[in-house]
Amino acid sequence: MRLLIPTALCLSLAAASAVLAAAAPRDFLSTYEASARSTDPGFGASATRGAAFFTSRHGSDWSCATCHTATPTAIGRHAATGKVIQPLAPSANSARLTDPAKVDKWFRRNCSDVLGRACTPKEKADVVAWLLSIR
Ligand code: HEC
Repeated sequence: MRLLIPTALCLSLAAASAVLAAAAPRDFLSTYEASARSTDPGFGASATRGAAFFTSRHGSDWSCATCHTATPTAIGRHAATGKVIQPLAPSANSARLTDPAKVDKWFRRNCSDVLGRACTPKEKADVVAWLLSIR
């Protein structure tokens, strides 16, 4: 009985934090779009622009597609380590665009590698719109 209460408390805390941390792929589109609209009220995300952004080199040796391929349903490979990277499109990989901490971390790291700076909310909205458009 003594053990039961702390265990139950732990389980419910874990469940609550899982609910807080989880997000649906569309939430990222809304968040980035809203952020972009705070400076450009007419902005609307474009899957076409997202695809072009993803496959462009932006002046560096790598594009996003270098590691992820230009096909979001395909398995990629890290350009430096050779490690396999599972598909980015939520339609091909249900774990994608569900964990805000992971999405933030990898946008930060990958944009810095490819663009030498953070991606803007507009760029992120376009990329997410493209990933969501893939069935
Ligand atoms: C040098 C290789 C490399 C490049 C270039 C790269 N990525 Fe990634 N990306 C990774 C790796 C490694 C991960 C994390 C491993 C995983 O989640 O499978 C990742 C994860 C991600 C995720 C996480 C998605 C999720 O929900 O799990 C997003 C979004 C992403 N990349 C977008 C981009 C964009 C946009 C670009 C171009 C600006 C880019 N990547 C360029 C290697 C790369």
